[in-house]
Amino acid sequence: MNRLVIESIEGRIIAGITMFVAIMVLIGWVVINEPARMAAFERQHLGRSIERGGELFAANCATCHGATGLGIAERAPALNNPQLFGFDFFNGVNGQIGRLQRQQVELNARITTLNNQRDTLLAEVVGATDERRTAIIEEVNTIDADITALSDQIAEIDERLAPLLEERQRILDAMEPAIDRGYLAGLEQAIATAEAENNPLHLTDFIDRSANRLLQAPWGSDVSSFIRTTLYHGRPGTGDAWNGSLMVAWAQIAGGPLRGDQIDDLVNFIVNWDRGNQWTLEDLYAVQQFTKLKADAAMVVAGPAVQTIGAESGNNLDVATELVMALTGDPARGQALYEGTVRSASNNRLACSSCHMGGAQAPATNEKWNTFLNVRLQLPEFAGWSPEKYFIHGVIYPNEYVVPGYASGVMPGNYITQLSAQDLADMLAYVRSYAE
Ligand code: HEC
Ligand code: HEC
Repeated sequence: MNRLVIESIEGRIIAGITMFVAIMVLIGWVVINEPARMAAFERQHLGRSIERGGELFAANCATCHGATGLGIAERAPALNNPQLFGFDFFNGVNGQIGRLQRQQVELNARITTLNNQRDTLLAEVVGATDERRTAIIEEVNTIDADITALSDQIAEIDERLAPLLEERQRILDAMEPAIDRGYLAGLEQAIATAEAENNPLHLTDFIDRSANRLLQAPWGSDVSSFIRTTLYHGRPGTGDAWNGSLMVAWAQIAGGPLRGDQIDDLVNFIVNWDRGNQWTLEDLYAVQQFTKLKADAAMVVAGPAVQTIGAESGNNLDVATELVMALTGDPARGQALYEGTVRSASNNRLACSSCHMGGAQAPATNEKWNTFLNVRLQLPEFAGWSPEKYFIHGVIYPNEYVVPGYASGVMPGNYITQLSAQDLADMLAYVRSYAE
C-alpha cells in the first residue's frame, strides 16, 4: 500500500484543495439553479391546473358565463372581463381628476370657515368702540384677501381640470357599447346625483369604484379569493336580476358538486384570463354582459315602447314570418344590428356576430344561408318551410331546435321581446347576402 498516486506531500495538498474547490463549485451551481428548477416545476403544476380548470369550466360554467367567459346577455356576467381584473381604461385620468377635485373641496371648506368668521366679526360691529371697529375692519379685509386667494386657487384648478374632464368624457364616450351591456352600472344615476348635489367628486369616486369589480363589490382582498368565495357560497338571492338563472354554491362542503382542488383549478383558469396591462377597448366591447348590482332590477329604465315581433305576431311563427316578409329589408342596417354597432328597435345591442363569427361557439354566419337551404330544410321537421321561416324560427325560438354539434341554451332566448319585424327583415336581408 505504499504506492500512492501522488507522492509528494505538496502534491497531495494541492490535489486536496483542487477537489474541495471543485465540490464547492458544484454545490454552488446546484444551489443557484434550485429556484429556477422550482419555478419551472411550479409553472408546470399551474399549467396543468389551468388545463383541468378549463375542462371544468366548459362542463359546468360555459352555459351561463359563455364558452370564452364573456358572459351571456341577461343570463350571467363575464369573467373574462377587464373590470374583474380592475384594468384602468382611464389611464390614471380619473384618479388625477379625483385628486384635484378633492383639493377644491378642501379649499371650499376653508372659504366656508372664513366666511363664518367674517359674519361673526361683522355682527360685532354694531355697538363696538371705534377702536374695535377699526380692528374688525382690518381683520375682515385680511379675510377677504384670503378668500380671494383661495378662490383664485380654485379657478386655477378648474383650468387644470378642463382638459382632464374632456379626456375622461372622450373615454366614457368610447365605452358606450360596454356601458350598454352593464359596464359602470348606475352611471346615469351617479351623473344625475353629482349634478343635483353640485358635487362633481361624487361622479369621479363612482367611476373609480365601478371600473374595478373588487371595489364595486366591495371586496377587500384579491381576485382569486373573490372568485373562490363566490364558488363556495354561490350568490343566493340574485336570481331575480338574472331572469331566474342562479349562481349556486359549487363546493362539496356547501352541498355542491365540486371538490376543493377542482375549485382551485377553476380559480386558476379564470385568473389566467387576466391580461395585466394588455387589456384593450376591444376586450371591453367583447364582453356580452357585465355584473348587475343588486339594486339594478329596480333601476332598469324602460326603453321606448315598440311593437316587438312576439307581441305583434301574438307569439305565432307563421304570422311573424308573414309580417317580416311583407317588409323590405335593409342589408346594411341588418349587418350593423348583427354586429351590434346600432341598436334594435327596443334599444338593445344584439351583437349576434360575437357568437356567430368563426363558427366555434355558434354556426358561422357566412355559411348560414346555404346551410339552411341544403341541410336543415331537408330534415323532416322542416319539410315545406321556407328558409326565411327557418331563420325567423331560429332567432325567436332558439331552443326549439338545436343545431347538432352546438350547446343548447347558449343562444339568448329573449330576442322575441327585443326585435321588431323590421329588425328581422333587415337581418334577413343581410344573411341572405351570403346566398350563392
Ligand atoms: C345557471 C347559470 C350559472 C352557472 C351554470 C354558473 N354561474 Fe356563475 N354566475 C351566474 C350568475 C347569474 C352570476 C351573477 C350573480 C350576481 O349577480 O350576484 C354569477 C356570478 C359568478 C361569479 C362572480 C362574478 C362577479 O363579478 O360577481 C363568478 C366568479 C362565477 N359566477 C363563476 C362561475 C363558475 C366558475 C361556474 C362553473 C363552476 C359558474 N359560475 C356557473 C350564473 C351561473
Ligand atoms: C350567446 C351566443 C349567441 C348569440 C348572441 C346569438 N346566437 Fe344564434 N345561435 C347560437 C348557438 C350556440 C346556436 C346553435 C344552437 C342552437 O340551434 O340553438 C345558434 C343558432 C342560430 C340560428 C340557427 C342556425 C343554423 O345554422 O341553423 C340562427 C338563425 C341564429 N342563431 C341567429 C342569431 C341571430 C340573428 C342572433 C342575434 C339577434 C343570434 N343568433 C345571437 C348562439 C348565439
